Amino acid sequence: MKINIATEQIEKIEADCEIILVVDKQMKHKWIKDNADLETLNFKAESEESAFLPHQHRIYAGCASLDRDEVRLAVATAMKALQKTAYKSIKIGSYVKTCPAIYTKAIVEGALLGTYTFDKYKSQKEEKVERELYISLEEYHDKELKLESAQKALSEAIIIANATNMAKDIVNAVPDDMTPEKLAHKAQEIADSLENVSCFIGDENFLKEQKMGAFEAVARASVHKPRFIHLTYKPQNPLATFAFVGKGLTYDSGGLSLKPSEHMVSMKSDKSGAAAALGILKGAAELKVPFEVHMIIGACENMIGGDAYKPDDILVAKNGVTIEVRNTDAEGRLVLADCLCYASELEPDYLVDMATLTGACVVAVGEYTTGIMGHNSTLKHGMISAASKSGELAGTLQFNRYLKKLIKSDIADISNIASSRYGGAITAGLFLDNFVSEPLKEKWLHLDIAGPAFIEKDWGYNQSGASGAGVRMCLYWLKEHEYKNSNYHDNEEK
Ligand code: BES
Ligand code: ZN
Ligand code: ZN
Repeated sequence: MKINIATEQIEKIEADCEIILVVDKQMKHKWIKDNADLETLNFKAESEESAFLPHQHRIYAGCASLDRDEVRLAVATAMKALQKTAYKSIKIGSYVKTCPAIYTKAIVEGALLGTYTFDKYKSQKEEKVERELYISLEEYHDKELKLESAQKALSEAIIIANATNMAKDIVNAVPDDMTPEKLAHKAQEIADSLENVSCFIGDENFLKEQKMGAFEAVARASVHKPRFIHLTYKPQNPLATFAFVGKGLTYDSGGLSLKPSEHMVSMKSDKSGAAAALGILKGAAELKVPFEVHMIIGACENMIGGDAYKPDDILVAKNGVTIEVRNTDAEGRLVLADCLCYASELEPDYLVDMATLTGACVVAVGEYTTGIMGHNSTLKHGMISAASKSGELAGTLQFNRYLKKLIKSDIADISNIASSRYGGAITAGLFLDNFVSEPLKEKWLHLDIAGPAFIEKDWGYNQSGASGAGVRMCLYWLKEHEYKNSNYHDNEEK
């Protein structure tokens, strides 16, 4: 889809169809011209409700309030409803409550995220109409909007939405199409397509050289060999360094602690942390953020076989910490352990890991929400705030000293599972803490995306399957850091 900002009034824009948002159920507005028809259709202007009037070439969508995520949702609802039509060009006005750029972004993100489709595996593909969307600078409250800032917002939102949709494609790909080797190939392609990005890929020998005993053990039983993937975006004179680490289990069968069949389905999504990390790196490089950004992925498959690692094994991670394996299905934390040691050695100013780590996190906060953990409250709340602006749902889970005791081991330094099943998301986070170097403890965040990364039903402007969880939240977070660094004072962005 091509999206343009139009300086003309909506009426003057030549387009096949028009989208009108009905804000706060307010049916009296100069843009709402079909009140009688809408009444006949019993259109109540609820969130996620739309009314298409084909003869008038207009579609109305309910927008509960002028909250940016309501705007995303309303635009997505309308665009989705138009997806089956032959309309090639669509127009919409601007809807602004506070800072205009935020609202331009919301329209663009709603349109691009809401119309994502994944038909790679359908033999009969529905014909895709190449559409153009025109966003008029004419505003709902007649506010004066500036072309330049709308255009800047447009290009940023396109980058963020496309990075999210790319992450969805990676997660939705089936295990055979996204083996660790193929994921590494994809990462190389992404790096090659970007400016100032370099790529390093290590295989199983690299894991041995690096003494990544935990990662190596998880990967061992699969015929698809592991890959360690490290992309670096380095602009000139970076103001700070960020490292993002992603869990890249291209398949998680559970290993010898085999998952029951109903829990194994959808475990292709266990690479969602890696996909998010790739999306963030691509987004950061395209947005040209003034920071050095590292992206580290531990990619492997957790399988069974004669060579499989076993419950009772003791593994030695890169930093020398010994780990008693009591459950081979708690494999993500083992892969991340070594990746976090590696990332710590880069001495970044901020370290964020993303992983579909625990079912317990889904139990704790529900399917749609990311669990944010870490030692630094300010950092956690900064990420929560960025998540909320981006439209992602996130909540914090508190570490505490009592839960920390539950991962003690009699025979090794720590156990890979807790002795109690309660608080499983937090004990997993506390396990990871052992691999974050001391100086980085306060600069580290752990995002458990097990819930939102992959849901087999539509929700909001997300389609069934992958949602690209983590990408928008972290890109908004990086942009917040950029604003702070440039002493950007816009209350709306704070
Ligand atoms: N990949 C799973 C976690 C998961 C569960 C992701 C549901 C997405 C949806 C992870 O490797 C796992 O199996 N975790 C175990 C940990 C347990 C053995 C301590 C779990 O959550 O059951
Ligand atoms: Zn597992
Ligand atoms: Zn897993």
